[in-house]
Amino acid sequence: MLDNGGVVVGRAKVTVVGAGNVGASCALWIVAQELADVVLVDIPQMEGPTKGKALDLYECAPIQRFDCTVTGTADYADIAGSDVVVLTAGLPRKEGMSRDDLINTNCAIVKSVSEQIKEHAPDSILIVVSNPLDAMVYTAWKATGFPTQRIIGQAGCLDIGRFKTFIAEETGFSVEDINTLLLGGHGDDMVPLPRFTNIAGIPVTEFMTEERLGELVERAKKGGGEIVGLLGTSAYYAVGAAITQMVEAIIHDKRRILPCAGYCTGQYGIDGLFVGVPCVLGKNGLERILEVSLEPDEARLLTESAAHVQELVDVVQKLDPSLA
Ligand code: 2OP
Repeated sequence: MLDNGGVVVGRAKVTVVGAGNVGASCALWIVAQELADVVLVDIPQMEGPTKGKALDLYECAPIQRFDCTVTGTADYADIAGSDVVVLTAGLPRKEGMSRDDLINTNCAIVKSVSEQIKEHAPDSILIVVSNPLDAMVYTAWKATGFPTQRIIGQAGCLDIGRFKTFIAEETGFSVEDINTLLLGGHGDDMVPLPRFTNIAGIPVTEFMTEERLGELVERAKKGGGEIVGLLGTSAYYAVGAAITQMVEAIIHDKRRILPCAGYCTGQYGIDGLFVGVPCVLGKNGLERILEVSLEPDEARLLTESAAHVQELVDVVQKLDPSLA
């Protein structure tokens, strides 16, 4: 879009809440792909480091050749007009912790941040990333009251990213040719689907044994824990990249089919829960959920994973009855 003076206007605006490792990586991928101007927000005690990270990133612009701006702030008024808000606030895992161990602390943080988002960016599309993911999307939904089309959780893009990486490494083919599908919550009981996995349309089992494929499925399911074990904290580069894939699909109205935590209203027998399902993402956020027919074993694994998500939502509701 051009205004009368020939000045480019109308670049998308994305707010990233939480200027930690995940938030900073996400901001970096977004501007590197020249998707949007980015506002990085954190708490007042972190205002200096947040502004510093944002400025450092902005100063990459002439080197990496992007014209997007990056602004650091502790003032939520600066998020006004955001097309997309990415919520990464909350504690990451430390060694020996499961994602579920974060629920008490992160529930309070996600609730309070969501209230700010509701006040200052009420028309945005909200992507939630904090853990335990599926329960935190629920928390943000309750705290914002956003329509379910405008609130989506990031997990599946990361999880299938890991699975595809392992398959590419094993077979020696390009990551670009690997297709797969994953359902369920973002826990170790997530459900990668070998039956829907192919390399350039050729079933993956043409390239490895079922047993080896099973090992890669298990590695993908525990992929987050593998990084925590090595790094001492949660992953962030791939998390930021996965969020950016969703942001791109929304901002460019690509209608990509991506596995995300979407609000199910009966699909796969799941009603009233955010769980990982194939979502069509476009300019309105979650355009629709695709329902594919599952084999009985696959359906059972998904039902078990959804039951675990329900347990976490029950914990949220007990912790804070206002979120029930
Ligand atoms: C992971 O799987 C951070 O939960 C995220 O690495």
